[in-house]
Amino acid sequence: MMDQTSVTVIGLGLMGQALAGAFLRDGFHTTVWNRTAAKAEQLVAQGAKLADSVGDAVEASPLVIVCVSDYEAVHKLLDPLGEVLKSRVLVNLTSGTSLAARETAEWAQQRGATYLDGAIMAVPQAIGAADTLLFYSGPRPAFDLHEQALRSLGGGTTYLGGDHGLSSLYDVAMLSMMWNILNGFLQGAALVGAAGVDAATFAPMAKMLSGTVTDWLAGYAQQIDDGTYPALDSTIDTHLAAMEHLIHESEFLGVNAELPRFIKTLTDRAVAEGHGGSSYAAMIEQFRA
Ligand SMILES: NC(=O)c1ccc[n+]([C@@H]2O[C@H](COP(=O)([O-])OP(=O)(O)OC[C@H]3O[C@@H](n4cnc5c(N)ncnc54)[C@H](OP(=O)(O)O)[C@@H]3O)[C@@H](O)[C@H]2O)c1
Repeated sequence: MMDQTSVTVIGLGLMGQALAGAFLRDGFHTTVWNRTAAKAEQLVAQGAKLADSVGDAVEASPLVIVCVSDYEAVHKLLDPLGEVLKSRVLVNLTSGTSLAARETAEWAQQRGATYLDGAIMAVPQAIGAADTLLFYSGPRPAFDLHEQALRSLGGGTTYLGGDHGLSSLYDVAMLSMMWNILNGFLQGAALVGAAGVDAATFAPMAKMLSGTVTDWLAGYAQQIDDGTYPALDSTIDTHLAAMEHLIHESEFLGVNAELPRFIKTLTDRAVAEGHGGSSYAAMIEQFRA
């Protein structure tokens, strides 16, 4: 089955099972392998072929997806294989750093494999959905060759560029977004919770605010790229005054004020550097530093 309709998935944890399941649903000849073979049972019942060894799994398909806990596990599994990786397109959907991705690309090249690094911006339940975002970086021809198969994993399949490190970089950048949004929500839920308001009542308002703020991103991005921060909406001085309200209110209510205090520390620095009259986009300099 050495054609565009065969794919191998190595690693059948929560995510790997979802990946293999999506390929099966789209009619791909799917070979799977996992250290704990029992995790393949359901997939085999759906039509997957369980390989006897990692080497057999790699040999079975031109496109080999690996999704295990970390890069150490990737190397533990694939290092001993040698020649069998030759002329395979290896797509690593294991989470890691840009440095590890670039090093693994060199490692793959030495073994004659073409390497794409990837990152999944979703939970296993969302794999295969039209709006599920997955990033890929590495040689464009390899992505183009297997784009149709990779699209089975999510409609938001996105090629980022030739630098293998880009997927991991975007991954952590998106995680930073996620935790900042979630932590903001949790701080807000704790504040209104102190007045007996439950989180479910607060959530719709929080969602509306998230939408409003994300509408600002394109304009702020333009200012960041231009390196000029005209305060078209409000100044950092105005933000700073509101941050003080947030800190005082948190302290008054006995809600954790560490995060608001930290944000104010960064903002104080921006003001000290002369950005009190700038837009909030000028805070980029605190993050770059
Ligand atoms: N779950 C998510 O929501 C999510 C979202 C985005 C990205 N990811 C990324 O996807 C990757 C897998 O996550 P997961 O949720 O599938 O984790 P998981 O359910 O814990 O599965 C881990 C997988 O790695 C394998 N593994 C770990 N160490 C190994 C080793 N030394 N040798 C061989 N196999 C080894 C496990 O094999 P055994 O079954 O034999 O233990 C299992 O297949 C991670 O890098 C994670 O960050 C996950």
